[in-house]
This record gives sequence, C-alpha cells and structure tokens, in this order.
Amino acid sequence: MFERLFRKKSINAGASGLKRCLSTFDLTLLGIGCIIGTGIFVLTGIAAANLAGPAVVLSFVISGLACTFAALSYAELSSSVGGCGSAYGYAYVTFGELIAWMIGWILLLEYGMSIAAVANGWSGYFQSAVTSIGLEIPEALSKGPSQGGLINLPASLIIILIMILLIIGVKESVKFNALMVLVKLIAIFTFIFVAAFNVDITNWQPFMPYGWFEKLDNGNTIGVLAGASIVFFAYVGFDAVSTAGDEAVNPQRDLPRGIIYSLIFCTIIYIIVSALLTGVVNYQELDTSSPVAYALMKIGFKGASALVATGVISGLTTVILVLFYALTRILLAISNDQLISKKLSLINDKTKTPVRIILITGVLISIVAGLIPLGDLAEIVNIGTLTAFIFVCIGVIRIRCQNIIKSQKVFKNKYHPLIPVLGVLSCSSLIFFLPTDTWLKFIVWNLIGLVIYFMYGFKNSKLN
Ligand code: ALA
Repeated sequence: MFERLFRKKSINAGASGLKRCLSTFDLTLLGIGCIIGTGIFVLTGIAAANLAGPAVVLSFVISGLACTFAALSYAELSSSVGGCGSAYGYAYVTFGELIAWMIGWILLLEYGMSIAAVANGWSGYFQSAVTSIGLEIPEALSKGPSQGGLINLPASLIIILIMILLIIGVKESVKFNALMVLVKLIAIFTFIFVAAFNVDITNWQPFMPYGWFEKLDNGNTIGVLAGASIVFFAYVGFDAVSTAGDEAVNPQRDLPRGIIYSLIFCTIIYIIVSALLTGVVNYQELDTSSPVAYALMKIGFKGASALVATGVISGLTTVILVLFYALTRILLAISNDQLISKKLSLINDKTKTPVRIILITGVLISIVAGLIPLGDLAEIVNIGTLTAFIFVCIGVIRIRCQNIIKSQKVFKNKYHPLIPVLGVLSCSSLIFFLPTDTWLKFIVWNLIGLVIYFMYGFKNSKLN
C-alpha cells in the first residue's frame, strides 16, 4: 500500500499531443502577461495603506527574492523533467503519486481561484469604464447574490470569451496575449514617467509605520513581512510558464529563460512602481480599488489616469488568459495520468487544444466568478502557491541526489543546494506571515483533495 502511494513516473513519460510552437520570446510574454495584474494594480495600494506603508517596496523586494529562488528551481525542473504539469509533474517524478496529486490539487486551487478573483477585479474596472461613457449595467447583472444582485455578468462573460479563445488555439491565444501585454506595458511606463516627476519625498515619511511584523489578537498580521506575503500574489504566474513544457519549441532552453526573464522584468517594474506610488500620494490614501489610476488623478493627470485604467483592463485580461491556459495544461497532465478521468484529456484534431477540459473548467469558473465575490482570495491563492514552490525547491534537491538527469543540455543552478534551501526557507516564512484563518481554509482544501484521491485516483491511476 505504502509503495503504491509513492509510485513514481519516469522523466518525460508520455506525450500530450500538443503543438510545439512557443519561442523564448513567446514564453517571456506569456509570463509577463500572467504576472503583472491585480497584484501591482490593486494590492500594492491595499498593502501600503494597511500593512506596510511606503516600505511596501521592501515587501516587493522580499517577495521577489523568495520567488527568484523558487523560479531558479522551476527553471531547473522544467528543463530537466519537462512536461505540461508544472509542479505536479515534477512532484510525480521526484516524490511519487500521492504528493504529486496533492500538489496538483493545490495548483487547481491556485489557478482556479485566481482566475475567478482576477475576473471579479476585471469586472470592477470594466463597469467603471462603462459608467464613464454614460452607460450603466443593471445592478442585478453586475453583482453576485451576496451583494444584492443576481450574477456578476461581466466577470462570467470575460471567462467565457477567454475560454473560446483558448479553444481556438494556443498560437492565436499567444498573439492576443502579446497585444494585450503591450497595452499593459504602455500603461505602466506612462505611470512611471508621470510619477517620476511628481514624487514628494515627505510622502515616504514615516517609511515603516507598521514595523516589520506583528500578529494582532484577531489572527490578522501587519508589517512589511505581512505585506510581503500579500504582495506575493503579484508574482504568481511565472510558474505558469512551466506549464507550456509540451508546447515550447526547445523546452530545455526556452522554459528556464522564459521563467527567469519574465520574473526579473516584473520584479524591477514592481519595485519602481511601488516606490513611485507611495512617493506621489500618501500611503494612507491608497486603499482603493484602483490605486495607480487614483494616484495619477490626485496629481492632476486625468488623461494618464484613463490610459492606466485601460491598461489595467487589458492587463487583467492577459492574467486571466494565461492562468486559464496554465490550469487547463495542469488538468491535462493529471487526466493523462488518470488521477482524474482520462476522457477529459482528448485533444481536438483541428485546434490541437484540450477542448473538453477548457469547456468544463471555463463553465465552472465562470459560474464561480459570477456568483461569488472573491475579496480576500489573494491569501488562499498565496498559501497554495507557496506550498507548491516549497515542493519544487525540495524536488531540485531530491533530483540532484537521485542523479537521474544525464543530459548536459539542461539548465542547472550553479549554487546548489544553496538556492533551493533558501527557496524553502523564504517561502515557508511567507506562509508563516499569512493570517491564521488562511491556514485553516487551506487545510480543509487539502483534506477534500485526500478524500478524492483515495476514492478515485488511487484505483484508476495509470501507474496502477
Ligand atoms: N500575478 C497575478 C496578478 O497580480 C496573478 O494578478
């Protein structure tokens, strides 16, 4: 029994039938498309106002460091193990089936909940854009039942639209992503340019009003480190690049590059934007749903503010697109391994995409996004993602010890085992700084996953 729970797959076992068409450049854009979104456009303001003050810039540095260690580990495993299952696939090779399933289950939480959350954010921006041109979406169709409406229709519809795009084909999706990333980057650079000339250094005083870390009586946490574990959400997504393992032209070379380039680019942008944001307005004013646009309005740049709002709408669209893409590829890997029904993994002959998986997840997430307002989801997404990162770092240590990678062409960290060890330590610390009730929700999610594994996956697994 014990042996069956930890049965392992061999490296690169099984082909998925997907089309190899993505270059390093496509993968880097895919990463940027997924990384820059709600985190920088919304959470920076909330974290600055409530958790870290102007020192939110340090929160970004700390989170960015943890992600760098994890990204180097992802780069190594994506290059040496490959496949489209990301951390799930790597865990299957290094830790065996049970842990792999649990990581896969956690990744479903990470991606599914982030898509619904970002769609809700998208809907908020979309509705204010519609209002600004004199139109109005009826209240019943703009909010979920718990907020007095019937359904958040824009949130549901954006998911359905992206679902159709993903069904049409991955190259088409990547082209759309590139265009949207461009609009998003124009918006960010406009903000940087305008804000750089309007910094008032008195806004950076006091720099660290909430200190480094404090746990309040109600279980909530404040301080720069608590800020780091929240703004970590802004980095979620570089791992999505690794789910393109079966669609990269040269995965051993392109995947590590795509992961590392996109993360470096976004880290630099985050540090600059968060420093400027708290430099142009007082951090206490930033607790709004659109802090970047708000800051520009406040210093009198209305046009730039509208441009940034447009950039946010495109930006959030790409985040939904890439997260959705990643989710379907992880499910494809799990279904190919028969831990969920094999019937789901059918690839359409014409589009070369896993149509059934895309349809089912699209409809389910669009219902969730339409009915449930997903306010504090960042924390639950973060705890799941951080756990997956920890396993990827330990996976690198294990795979090096097992000495099963013979190819010289794969990417390898020079500073081994320092990088993965620092990855484990930094990601565990960020989990520690999250509120207690987030840990509890996460435990419940994992228990449900365990039950499903023992009722289905254990018996039906391809390795059985
Ligand atoms: N990193 C993505 C965002 O900030 C998930 O929206």
